Amino acid sequence: MINSLRGMNDLLEKDEYKRFTYFIDIANSVAQRYGFHYIETPLLEETALFKRSVGESSDIVGKEMYQFIDKGENDVCLRPEGTAGVVRAFIQKKLDRAGGIHRFFYHGPMFRYERPQKGRLREFHQFGVESFGVESVYEDVIMIMMVADILKELGIGYRLQLNSLGDSNCMPQYRENLVSFIESVEDEICEDCKRRKETNPIRVLDCKNEKCQALYQNAPKLINALCDSCQSDFNKLKSILEKNNIAYEIDTNLVRGLDYYSKTAFEFVSDDIGSQSAIAGGGRYDRLVEFLDGRPTPAVGFAMGIERLMELIVMPEESREGYYFGAMDEEAVEIIIAMTQKKRKTQKATCEYRARNLKAHLKNADKANARYCCIIGSNELEHNTIWIKDLINKSEETISIKEF
Ligand code: HAM
Repeated sequence: MINSLRGMNDLLEKDEYKRFTYFIDIANSVAQRYGFHYIETPLLEETALFKRSVGESSDIVGKEMYQFIDKGENDVCLRPEGTAGVVRAFIQKKLDRAGGIHRFFYHGPMFRYERPQKGRLREFHQFGVESFGVESVYEDVIMIMMVADILKELGIGYRLQLNSLGDSNCMPQYRENLVSFIESVEDEICEDCKRRKETNPIRVLDCKNEKCQALYQNAPKLINALCDSCQSDFNKLKSILEKNNIAYEIDTNLVRGLDYYSKTAFEFVSDDIGSQSAIAGGGRYDRLVEFLDGRPTPAVGFAMGIERLMELIVMPEESREGYYFGAMDEEAVEIIIAMTQKKRKTQKATCEYRARNLKAHLKNADKANARYCCIIGSNELEHNTIWIKDLINKSEETISIKEF
């Protein structure tokens, strides 16, 4: 027997696909209400795209890419995240040259060769949003509000964690100070952190090793070393969130797992799903368009992990809806198929192709969660009528097919 690959799941069980489509419907509709447009980019891209954007020092690129050489000798990989592809499309379509504001949303599968566990898959689905052309911190607020709105509609509680990663003004000096600090404790830190010190020192701050974490308690904090413009933007962000009753926590170790961020970085976490608690993450990435050979364009975005959210969604109660048609006589089968087809043009309608007894049809109608069970037997056939039972208020009637 052939099974699905480790960390890759089918979306098959009734409850699962309902949660999935319920999430997508809500997230799509919120994004559209915010004036964002749908974008779809390929699952497969040149490996160089992710190396240059997500960053060679990140775990995603360093350890987790589904990378291979295709039949045309191209070095390609399955996308580990959605931002890089959207930025590539934005530049390829010359929208960076067109100027103006461009706002997109997307959803689809992402691939990371991680160690699978609860909430951590090798193929998972994200809903994401990317906004290009707005330098103002107001757009960062919009991103956070959009995540908060989606979570509210889904009935999901969260904690919002915030940090600022500075910009090209204040980051280089901070990095130097941090490297000096790391060198002062270098004998005690883990091998990964030693590597991070060389490639992207701020990534040491979110090392999961407890000993490293204890040492970094005394590390200099970027939040205390922001330049005036980053500090003023960060203050503005906090103040607008407060005015809009969006609670947040400052997490000075929040550096995100991807290298492209500057200024605002944020994560939404849930305390109800175990150790893989990040349900959404994002931030500003003002330099990425330029890194990928586009015209410098400010940008900000986020992505939500759909599988993690599916664990938390509070589904609305389902009410009975639509029609179930059944025949008790072989001769009536074609009639009920035609009637189902007609009803379907405007409402939910299903039918059974085999002639069966009333009990079996009522059971089927119940299973299909239909409101009306509509049956034609030999008696109805003779009089051109149809028997209908309302499965909510339990009333029954027989009416002419014409009237129906
Ligand atoms: P990320 O933080 O790597 O950001 O992923 C966003 C979300 O995807 C996470 O918060 C988590 O819910 C979910 N996720 C990540 N890895 C897995 C996994 N292995 N299994 C299940 N769920 C997972 C990004 O991907 C950025 N592109 C977000 C962004 C958009 N930043 C700016 N624009």
